[in-house]
Amino acid sequence: MSFRTTSTDYVEDVSPGSGALPPRAWYASSDAKSLSLNGTWRFRLSPTADAEDDSFAAQGYDAGDWAEVAVPGHWVLQGDGAFGAPIYTNHLYPFPVDPPRVPTENPTGDHLRVFDLPADWSDEWPALSERGAVLRFDGVESCARVWLNGTDIGEFKGSRLPHEFAVGHLLKPAGNVLAVRVHQWSAGSYLEDQDQWWLPGIFRDVTLLHRPAGSAADFFVHASYDHVEGLGTLRVDSDVDGRVTVPELDIDVATGEPVTVPVEPWTAETPRLYDGVLATSGERVPLRIGFRTVVLEDGLIKVNGRAVLFKGVNRHEWHPERGRALDLRTMREDVLLMKRHNLNAVRTSHYPPHPAFLDLCDEYGLWVIDECDLETHGFTEQGWRNNPVDDDRWTPALLDRAARMVERDKNHPSVVMWSLGNEAGTGRGLTAMAEWIRGRDSSRLVHYEGDWNCRDTDVYSRMYADHAEVERIGRGLDGGTHKRRHLPFIQCEYGHAMGNGPGGLADYQRIFEAHERLQGGFVWEWIDHGIKHPELGYAYGGDFGEELHDGNFVCDGLIFPDRTPSPGLVEYKKVIEPVRIEGDGADGTVRVTNAYDFADLSALAFAWAYQADGETVGTGALRVPALAPGESAEVKLPEPPETGRSGQTLWTVRALLAEETAWGPKDHVVAWAQLPVGERQPVSVTASATPVPGEGLITLGPAAFDARTGALRSLGDVGVTGLRLDVWRAPTDNDDGASWQDDTRWGVLWRTHGLHRMRHRLDAVERDGDALTVRTRVAPAAREVGLRTVYRWTSDGTRLRLTVSVTPEGDWTVPLPRLGIRFGLARADRVEWYGGGPGEAYPDTRSASVLGRWESSVDELQTPYVRPQENGARADVRWARLGGLRIEGDPEFWFSARRWTTEQLDAARHLTDLTPGDTVWVNLDHGQQGIGSQSCGPGPLPRYFLRAEPAEFSFVFSPDA
Ligand code: GAL
Repeated sequence: MSFRTTSTDYVEDVSPGSGALPPRAWYASSDAKSLSLNGTWRFRLSPTADAEDDSFAAQGYDAGDWAEVAVPGHWVLQGDGAFGAPIYTNHLYPFPVDPPRVPTENPTGDHLRVFDLPADWSDEWPALSERGAVLRFDGVESCARVWLNGTDIGEFKGSRLPHEFAVGHLLKPAGNVLAVRVHQWSAGSYLEDQDQWWLPGIFRDVTLLHRPAGSAADFFVHASYDHVEGLGTLRVDSDVDGRVTVPELDIDVATGEPVTVPVEPWTAETPRLYDGVLATSGERVPLRIGFRTVVLEDGLIKVNGRAVLFKGVNRHEWHPERGRALDLRTMREDVLLMKRHNLNAVRTSHYPPHPAFLDLCDEYGLWVIDECDLETHGFTEQGWRNNPVDDDRWTPALLDRAARMVERDKNHPSVVMWSLGNEAGTGRGLTAMAEWIRGRDSSRLVHYEGDWNCRDTDVYSRMYADHAEVERIGRGLDGGTHKRRHLPFIQCEYGHAMGNGPGGLADYQRIFEAHERLQGGFVWEWIDHGIKHPELGYAYGGDFGEELHDGNFVCDGLIFPDRTPSPGLVEYKKVIEPVRIEGDGADGTVRVTNAYDFADLSALAFAWAYQADGETVGTGALRVPALAPGESAEVKLPEPPETGRSGQTLWTVRALLAEETAWGPKDHVVAWAQLPVGERQPVSVTASATPVPGEGLITLGPAAFDARTGALRSLGDVGVTGLRLDVWRAPTDNDDGASWQDDTRWGVLWRTHGLHRMRHRLDAVERDGDALTVRTRVAPAAREVGLRTVYRWTSDGTRLRLTVSVTPEGDWTVPLPRLGIRFGLARADRVEWYGGGPGEAYPDTRSASVLGRWESSVDELQTPYVRPQENGARADVRWARLGGLRIEGDPEFWFSARRWTTEQLDAARHLTDLTPGDTVWVNLDHGQQGIGSQSCGPGPLPRYFLRAEPAEFSFVFSPDA
């Protein structure tokens, strides 16, 4: 066989490819053999598509001096930098926009793998027909050409979609040479402009599948549910005739024949699957059948006759070391985390996931919006001119993508909507996709956010609409086309979980639940796409020297790159909990409401606990009827235990898993509420000591102050430094907002107003009777606004009370980041507090804060946002103990402590920039500004603004025994 320099025209060809088999369902056969070709492959990287000829594909080629890569994998994440680097852009194409042309610099990875057929296959080979064996690629970015044993078998694009080739006639028992040339850039890249890392490679499985004579190529399981009669109807269409059996339902019918029997339906809450078998003369295929019917009815998305409320999340595939090459364990971890945090839905943003993920969604129960691998967002830069979705030349590629998604995933009960793609503008190509999808599968709805007129869709979908607009939509006051006005609404993206936040989820949820038309939403997004990095901890955009990048916009998930839940996920879990527990602790009853759409409460047990001053003084079980969805009951609480104390008392009522389930252990907390009974006594300190001047110091009870500045120096034997008013916090991503946002980007305005460089002018240190009073004015350089601040110290001889009075001066047009005091302690490690915990909370992210007694190290108080920023505040703190001090607040305060200053936190780009100093910096805040979602959405609601207003707050310090 002779080799020539391969033409690379296919790389820039708008067509989806050539040589591949028609798309079909993805499944694992019971008896047909398969051979995984995952593993170590030989690898050679070239700088251009045509730098090397195709002689490497020949049998006998010696690739002994090539490098190696793991398949599945992305080459840029392997080879310690020798194979190039990842690039992160949100929507900008990292190459000139000149479709379908791509740059000459087109990193091209030649992959080579030699394999033998397993011994037990040899009966069949080499006598196989062409279709007797299929070579399947589940995902290759972005374009591949494939040779088997020296024969060019085709090329393809469509990175997150499967491609199969008939290769039976080319196989031999031993020494098969599989050669795959992968180009980073191709015409397909124009269709794959999702907000994520550009990561070339064979990143999903490569498998050789035996296709025995008489086996089906494709089959379609139709399993609907009639909720009125309680009957399921099953029909399995197959291109090869066979029989379908479902032993549990006594079903044994021919393919193509419908059968109706009583069944339990499948829902995300009750994921009832029936095991069946499709048997053709050549093969047995296991089926996992879920009966459910999805319809658009009365302007609502209904499953099995009931409207559903999506409590969803957008999931990109991500692993901090392997990128989008995910193993089954990681996929299952995602699903279990979602289920344990009360999520009921996933949008597979923005491409079909690894097929095994959908098996898990079927099994554990999640509603899925399966999204096509399509985004052309970068065309927005040119007013959408030349957008491929509005250019007929590209329509075959779009239809190919739609078909590969639908055919692959059509047998999953979890998939309830097909999404045409994301942020691709509007155009004829999208309409063609929608029409094709409806023709092929009328049993699901069609979603696409980019067309607000809903021309092609069954649901009105938006992203990042603010609360007020969502409310208007809920009330039907949003106008729009005739069609749109009759459609249900979802937010396919909201709550931008970048860094600290998102704020405002509870307010959205209240609105969703108040209006039938609003069927919930999907928080953006599941996981931070940080890349594990030896020096930086986790890398983000720009860390690989990209000339064009979008920084840490790629780290905007509810879980950190290592899959630790961030406070945003804990908050979301609480906000969407499927049981509402409400009431007035004092009257001894609690109202329990089942907020599931389908499940009754029989899987849950309820427990009460009674707390006095943060200590649990009694616990017990609470009997709650197995309420049906939507039902409520008033449940009597027991007599409160005698506490013998006058402190704060409250009930905590929890809904727990009664037994271990597939996704959670027995006693896993599903929902909870705290109901206050008695209030805390305010702290009182009778001012009996008087300030005594001494050698450069003034003493007052246990405290010593600098006589000249009035600064607190020590309390007992605890040294205190730098105690003063503080208004600055290291802006969060949501404070800073995104560059395209409006003029309420507080993080930016705060800097313009100089709030990060406040000056403290000392006006007076006064001793008047029992009190030491320090008068100051705190104000930013270059501005006329300021805060008159008076510190008034009194003592009863053992305790020290500080009252801070703040009076704003001038025209304050921005809210304050925070308002409180900060100071340094020389040594502090353990912290104990009575207040909200265990995690951080801010005014609009505080739903999950549990009142109780908590303990932590200073280090554990920090929330490790990939880009350092304000974090770790604990809400509603009554008292805290650390570093030899006990601090009590009047009223409650926000508490934080860290081993670096706010200024250092603000300056850091990565967590590794933060080095602990000797001092622990403590902030006791009277107020914090809300968090909001402005890194890609609305800022905090005005009710969470910390306005510059007159304020007074006190703390009582005492040496801690
Ligand atoms: C949306 C987009 C997502 C992501 C998000 C911001 O516009 O659909 O892919 O970019 O914004 O993180």
